[in-house]
Amino acid sequence: MKNNQQLFNELIRSFAELGVDSPQAEARMVFEAIFERDFKYLSLKNFQVSEAVTDKISQIIERRKKHEPIQYILGKAPFYNYELIVNENVLIPRAETEIMVEYIIKNIPEKGTLLDIGCGSGTIGVTCAYERSDIQVTAVDISPEALKIAKLNAENYQLKNIKFFESNLFSNVDSKFDFIAANLPYIPYSEYLECPSEVINFEPEIALTTENNGLKLIYQTAEQCSNYLNNNGVIIFENGYNQAAKIVEFLEKLNNFSEIFTIKDYNDYHRFTVAKL
Ligand SMILES: C[S@@+](CC[C@H](N)C(=O)[O-])C[C@H]1O[C@@H](n2cnc3c(N)ncnc32)[C@H](O)[C@@H]1O
Repeated sequence: MKNNQQLFNELIRSFAELGVDSPQAEARMVFEAIFERDFKYLSLKNFQVSEAVTDKISQIIERRKKHEPIQYILGKAPFYNYELIVNENVLIPRAETEIMVEYIIKNIPEKGTLLDIGCGSGTIGVTCAYERSDIQVTAVDISPEALKIAKLNAENYQLKNIKFFESNLFSNVDSKFDFIAANLPYIPYSEYLECPSEVINFEPEIALTTENNGLKLIYQTAEQCSNYLNNNGVIIFENGYNQAAKIVEFLEKLNNFSEIFTIKDYNDYHRFTVAKL
């Protein structure tokens, strides 16, 4: 039998040999999931690990060898201050989306309403509903499988201020909102084909790419959103690293908005485009 510290170091080595970007971070995620304890606690302890646990870790390494993302293997992903259930029907929440969540939490009016369009696992809607229990959130997605996961996440956090339904953009939406959050697919197909196998072989294509150089759904949402925003309502899009200027130009031409601006991500890209009615 091995002890936990030995096993942890071996796991980091195995992940490093597989070319995993952050072997230590992934090894921590595995340990926290398997032992269901915070890593700080685990790192201070020395204990023998059963054969069953060693076997489980070997199976994880085998799956990781085939480039399956660690979040799908473990069935969960960290996001903001939360842990979200994920599977291969939803995009793995990305760290930059936390910037959008932060913006909404700070700016949505008291007792306001939020539409999360293309909610996936509920990344934006669930997090905002938890952080701002005074608001009412509606979360929609075209994918019924994604909605199942989003609902599980809302149940997990016992949220009462969020509802879900299937909708192709606004097709089933019949009310107006103070805020609309749109993290829709935006990767141009040619770039999508260049994505690492973790993405292309495991994450849902419908969550990542769309026509018109990745801008089709953002443009359609921009065209329709003024019908679904209250006076002074705000829409915030997440977009590709080089798409913001085009989206700003498109929004300006629509002539529906009093203010249009962008917000940068951690890498200094204009990752979010905001428009106020
Ligand atoms: C980039 S993922 C974002 C998921 C989630 N909002 C997040 O931030 O992790 C895009 C999501 O949009 C959904 N989607 C794609 N086309 C859609 C459409 N026409 N109407 C509604 N949702 C759509 C996908 O199923 C996917 O869940």
